[in-house]
Amino acid sequence: MIKELPKEQVTLVTQRLKLRPLHMKDVESIVDIHSDKDMALLMSDSIPVPYKTEDAVKFVENSYINYREKENIEFCITLKDENELIGVVGIDINQKDDHVTLGYWLGKAWWGKGYMSEAVSEVVAYCFEELEIHRVASHHFHPNIASGKVMQKAGLKCEGRRKEHYKKGDIFFDIIDYGVVKSEWKKL
Ligand SMILES: CC(C)(COP(=O)(O)OP(=O)(O)OC[C@H]1O[C@@H](n2cnc3c(N)ncnc32)[C@H](O)[C@@H]1OP(=O)(O)O)[C@@H](O)C(=O)NCCC(=O)NCCS
Repeated sequence: MIKELPKEQVTLVTQRLKLRPLHMKDVESIVDIHSDKDMALLMSDSIPVPYKTEDAVKFVENSYINYREKENIEFCITLKDENELIGVVGIDINQKDDHVTLGYWLGKAWWGKGYMSEAVSEVVAYCFEELEIHRVASHHFHPNIASGKVMQKAGLKCEGRRKEHYKKGDIFFDIIDYGVVKSEWKKL
């Protein structure tokens, strides 16, 4: 059973990054990042295109409400000694089944530097070691190889493939499912 969340969302620190709560000051960076068309291609339709300021405001507002309701935790990713948002990693909490689903995105300027592997590994450790969650899961569109590697590096295992499960525009994408339970997870 997931523990009570701390009243204030914690900030996690890794070797190069800080994972802190979102602020309204992050809105502009969120809009900038989601205005890149390469980003939209890799994300589910839950991210509006075009992405507007009001979408980012709603996202930040919802992060406060969902934390309070114990439904979701969004971590804003910044470089360790800076405060600018470079991406987000979030967990949707399923209280009944005691599992979470990970979602994440990083601004294109910061891709390929190992940042998301570092951030996601830390959040998975937080889920198991602090929140005492039973299982962590995630999934990605088949062509998104980098995302699959992020999951592997955070200790999740590939659990299967849902053939042409997701229709984005005119294209049917296979979905690759990943997950790990607490008893099988090892911090890599
Ligand atoms: C997917 C994403 C989160 C990866 O973040 P990242 O910080 O660039 O990933 P990392 O640098 O930690 O790299 C993870 C692995 O993927 C590899 N990789 C990175 N980009 C790659 C690419 N375009 N193709 C193949 N492999 C790639 C890296 O080499 C690394 O593997 P390695 O450790 O074996 O070398 C980032 O590209 C992103 O935000 N994309 C847009 C949003 C998105 O796709 N979100 C996930 C939806 S499921």
